[in-house]
Amino acid sequence: MDTITFIRPDDWHLHLRDGAAMASVVNDSARQFARAIVMPNLQPPVTTVAAAEAYRDRILAALNPALDFDPLMTLYLTDDTSAVEIARAAASPVVHAVKLYPAGATTHSDQGVTDLSRVTEALEAMQEHGLPLLVHGEATGEDIDVFDREQVFIEQRLQPLLRDFPALRIVFEHITTADAVDFVRDNDPERLAATITPHHLLINRNALFRGGLNPHHYCLPVAKRERHRQALLAAATGTPRRFFAGTDSAPHARGAKESACGCAGIYSAHAAIELYATAFEQAGDFTHFETFMSTAGPAFYRLPVNSATVTLRRDSWTVPDTLPFGDGEELVPFMAGQVLHWKLQQESRQ
Ligand code: DOR
Ligand code: ZN
Repeated sequence: MDTITFIRPDDWHLHLRDGAAMASVVNDSARQFARAIVMPNLQPPVTTVAAAEAYRDRILAALNPALDFDPLMTLYLTDDTSAVEIARAAASPVVHAVKLYPAGATTHSDQGVTDLSRVTEALEAMQEHGLPLLVHGEATGEDIDVFDREQVFIEQRLQPLLRDFPALRIVFEHITTADAVDFVRDNDPERLAATITPHHLLINRNALFRGGLNPHHYCLPVAKRERHRQALLAAATGTPRRFFAGTDSAPHARGAKESACGCAGIYSAHAAIELYATAFEQAGDFTHFETFMSTAGPAFYRLPVNSATVTLRRDSWTVPDTLPFGDGEELVPFMAGQVLHWKLQQESRQ
């Protein structure tokens, strides 16, 4: 098999940043994907429909006009999000979901939710209007081991959420453990789905420490043991519908990563489709590649599947060591300097 032609995919979890940083990354995503669920963790966060619309306009203004890309916006849930704002979001054609960051869980999450009991009104409004909740599934707290945060979140937060809001539809974002895979499989596919990143399919936690501390493999949730990576690979390649692509591509300037306190986030938008293909090739099974990349996500979000197709060709190429980023900075993309064996054929876009 030397080429794979499939429905043009979408990225169901993406960080685009803002300003000059956004302008330097957005076209990488637009070259690969038709649509992307855009994360709201700007500073200040995108907490209102008006802010989401303004952010969407800035993204569209930075787009290469030759590319066809639709940013699907999200709101950042805070302790103060009102039912009125949720109703407004549900009525807006540009807002597609609301993101829950437990306060303190990750980059720019300080205005996140401090306690789920404070967002009851918003969650009730979301289930009433059918607006999906996207969860950063990590419990916070100094007493919780960083590698256990996802399991603890499932027990302490996700199970109660599904129980207490029986019509709420949830995407468990960027899952990293076998526990999360099992939990998603054991629940109703109409109510719970999960995104999986290319980096969590391709690296385990050894990659953080191989040959010295590697900040470019640091993201949140942090990569786990090999057995968890294998479970993710099996889920992506073997369980259509419940799991779909969401890169969590999260660019940070090189200096912010290679620092005494390096930021969490891995940039994968430069080669996202090729990276997913690399993972599927590792599993030796492309049967459900199109479902994972292009049809399971729209089904969960109740959006049409894209009509264009794209083609991947077997072709070896080397990922650049760095890419330009923002005002005169650079970023180090995932798998910098390494050879990939699939390449997206650009002419195939309609
Ligand atoms: O690694 C991460 N980076 N995880 C997140 O949840 C946020 C993201 C970012 O915004 O940099
Ligand atoms: Zn993210």
